Amino acid sequence: MAELISKETIDAVSRATDIVSVVSEYVHLEQKGNQWWGCCPFHSEKTPSFSVTPDKNLYYCFGCHAGGNVTKFIMEMEKISFPEAIKILAKKSGVRIEYENGGAESFQPVDNTKELLIDLYTKVSGSFHYLLTQTQEGKSALGYILSRGLSMETIEKFKLGYSPANRRWLKVFLRQKKYSDEFLEKSGLFSKKYPDVAFFSDRLMFPIFDRHGQVVAFGGRRLREDEEGMKSPKYLNSGDLIQYKKGETLYAFNFAKNSIQKEKKVIFCEGYMDCIAYHQCGITYAVAPLGTALTDEQIKLVKGFVNEILLSFDSDGAGQNATKRAILMCRQHNITAKVIKLQGGKDPAEIMLKFGKESLTNDINCAILDSDYLLKSLAQEFPVDTPEGKVKACLGFFSYIDALQTDIQKESCLELVSQTFKISMEAVRRDYLNRDSARNRSFSETVDDKIETSIKVNAELRTLLAVLSDTSKFEMMIEEISDSDFEDPVARNMFSILKQCYQQDNLSFEAVVNHCQDNSLQQFIIGTIASGEFKTNTEQMIKDGIAMIKNKSLEKKRDDLLEKIEEQQRMSPQNIEELKRLIAEKMDIDRKLKQ
Ligand code: UTP
Ligand code: MN
Repeated sequence: MAELISKETIDAVSRATDIVSVVSEYVHLEQKGNQWWGCCPFHSEKTPSFSVTPDKNLYYCFGCHAGGNVTKFIMEMEKISFPEAIKILAKKSGVRIEYENGGAESFQPVDNTKELLIDLYTKVSGSFHYLLTQTQEGKSALGYILSRGLSMETIEKFKLGYSPANRRWLKVFLRQKKYSDEFLEKSGLFSKKYPDVAFFSDRLMFPIFDRHGQVVAFGGRRLREDEEGMKSPKYLNSGDLIQYKKGETLYAFNFAKNSIQKEKKVIFCEGYMDCIAYHQCGITYAVAPLGTALTDEQIKLVKGFVNEILLSFDSDGAGQNATKRAILMCRQHNITAKVIKLQGGKDPAEIMLKFGKESLTNDINCAILDSDYLLKSLAQEFPVDTPEGKVKACLGFFSYIDALQTDIQKESCLELVSQTFKISMEAVRRDYLNRDSARNRSFSETVDDKIETSIKVNAELRTLLAVLSDTSKFEMMIEEISDSDFEDPVARNMFSILKQCYQQDNLSFEAVVNHCQDNSLQQFIIGTIASGEFKTNTEQMIKDGIAMIKNKSLEKKRDDLLEKIEEQQRMSPQNIEELKRLIAEKMDIDRKLKQ
């Protein structure tokens, strides 16, 4: 059925929502006056140009011009639709969603497949968890995971489960629960070829949570070597689903978010087991990319909160390559990277089991800076006591220098190269510059900072912007001025938007922004109001502006009349009546102008 969230609900949600606390879940904000500031989540930056103005319920980035209200923020961050954003905010603020019986054709039916899928995954995860912890069937899986050192508490927290060996069980079970075959077919829980056969069977199940802690996908670990040499992969993972995008999700982020914010750092580790091991050892700021190489999206999830990223990948060749790649990505996002080297074991899960949590904590404290890590590994890779080896090692390190975001950092690293490989600073610098110019810089800031509004502020617009920063003054304006008094089409458009909102009895800043059809006008308004330019002396500014607009409009009318009068005077025979009327009108305007 077509469901449209009611206007009242939308208003109630926007009243009940505190934009600062919502944005704070994604960005570290600090208060300055009546605004809050942080590093923009929509583009790369190290110094905050992202502002939140709670009394206007708006955010705005002075760097990339992203801006809007709290709903838009959620939509952009979560890449979701307007109704989905409203639902998330309603949940947070405890507002009950009401729908309008939208019969009009233009109403889009709300697709709730995503919610239904999340609900399904939550239920299935509950059943898997029950099977693991409470049944005979799950006993050997439980034994396995306990033998790897996980506590029952951890198993509860991460809702680990067991998917039964009978591959047909799940379908039968869910049919009993009245799920339709059609829906289950798109759930990702069954084989594409054989829709009655479960995708996961006889595996230790790791539910994957979204940032809100809802189950959106699964990873399943094989419990034993397959018989008859038929090897299936160690881990099976859900593919991308409506509710789950692998590359935009970090495993355990829901549990780690608070610690990441508090500690201002995060550990990226290899996978489920390592991540859980860190958490069980009290290192709760660990997360893992999900069976794929680290993505920019995943870095963006944490970059607002952290000063440094600790990399905890395997020490084998693949792990080292992943580490190098991750270092460059962190630096391109202007974040310091450090590398954790584990002592006496291959991965955190093993260290925990063999030596306990002190050992793991100690390894974290000894994490080495990315540049030192890279130089060391280059020195191992190439014979750096020969000129050729030096050249190769330097070239390897130059891509790291390229990823650095400031000249000071670059300069210090060139010095580091010079000292480490015993080459003169001039030679290092020359070689670096030559290489740099020969190469197209492959990375730049993710935003197009050429976005600029073509709107020029004139006196009319200035007055309207002042009204926007204090909409209670609009009444004063509408008594004196009408649409036709505006010369500038942008100002006229903005005035009529204000008028519409006024007539609908909702002159909130938000309503005005929402009424703007024109993106550049919207962006322009948000930007100006966020700048706080019109906060002082607003009333006087508005009064002067109204007088100015009125006068200008009257002057223009008088000029038009003068033209008409002259025209009449040139005519023969003259229309005396018309001439008299025109002159009277002009005198009337003259009188008004003198006032
Ligand atoms: P690992 O092989 O290091 O597994 O792969 P692990 O997490 O340490 O698990 P244990 O300790 O052997 O039980 C690291 C991650 O790579 C992904 C998983 O996300 C895993 O956690 N992976 C690995 C797969 O997706 N498929 C595989 O077949 C193997
Ligand atoms: Mn492992």
